Amino acid sequence: MNFHSKEPRHIIEAQQFDLADALRNGRDSCMAGKILTALFYEPSTRTRHSFEAAMMRLGGEKLSTENAKDFSSAVKGERVEDTIRIESAWSDVIVLRHYEDDAALRAARVSCVPVINAGCGKGQHPTQALLDLYTIKRERGGIDGTTIAVLGDLKYGRTVRSLCYLLGKFKSIRIFFVSPPSLRIGRDILEYLGEKSISYLEVDSLEHIIGRVDVIYTTRIQKERMEGLASGPEFLRLQHSYRIDAAAASKMQHGAIIMHPLPRNDELAFDVDDLPQAAYFRQSDNGLYVRMALLKWMFMK
Ligand code: ASP
Ligand code: CP
Repeated sequence: MNFHSKEPRHIIEAQQFDLADALRNGRDSCMAGKILTALFYEPSTRTRHSFEAAMMRLGGEKLSTENAKDFSSAVKGERVEDTIRIESAWSDVIVLRHYEDDAALRAARVSCVPVINAGCGKGQHPTQALLDLYTIKRERGGIDGTTIAVLGDLKYGRTVRSLCYLLGKFKSIRIFFVSPPSLRIGRDILEYLGEKSISYLEVDSLEHIIGRVDVIYTTRIQKERMEGLASGPEFLRLQHSYRIDAAAASKMQHGAIIMHPLPRNDELAFDVDDLPQAAYFRQSDNGLYVRMALLKWMFMK
């Protein structure tokens, strides 16, 4: 299994989603006797705990460090490669979140057990993309033919990058990239979509397209990756330039949904939460089942 490949075709087969559906209800102990090690060098609410819960629900056990940057031997200068060599001796699978874009790739090169990229730098977050696709399929009945607007910090956010790589595998996808000019999506993603003949358009605002999309996928400004932005007036201006609230949601077409990888800031108003369009908490819940399916699939004979 290669989670760092730009072509992870083998993990988006429909069977994986069927497995996630099956695991929603049934019990399974396929991970009994196995250990998942969660090494997180960046904060997380959803990804770390949903992986740990997935492992435990499958009968396995976990070792976990939620702040490896400050509380592992990284503080003493240990490189991630050395840490992974050590941890892989007593683990069956390593789930790594890191602040450097290439950390998962470097980890995989030295690990003797599978490494799952749980979000590295501004690079990728592939299991988020899997649960995003699963959510679109569950909410809308399918993925082919989806018109999606991705909003926000497309430059430093990693979830949209991974989502684009997976959307590139489907048919008749249309993507609108909506962001302030300073936070545009990387050219590498646009080139990839071009190779896959996916139609896309970069726009500054949702105004003219909000009634034409099936999915709005909004994201927060990654201020931790933008030196000096903190929460000053520039941050607030950027954040409000694409805010979704109930008034905006009312302009969406029937059956369209709003997604967000979470956590949210002010770009997604609380008054959206109880609307039928709000799919983001279900999206987060789906992470558990998708990660259970992924773990089960990885260790299937
Ligand atoms: N939780 C997601 C990530 O780790 C999105 C975000 O933090 O904005 O990439
Ligand atoms: N969506 C996501 O990755 O959330 P966390 O950063 O809380 O893990």
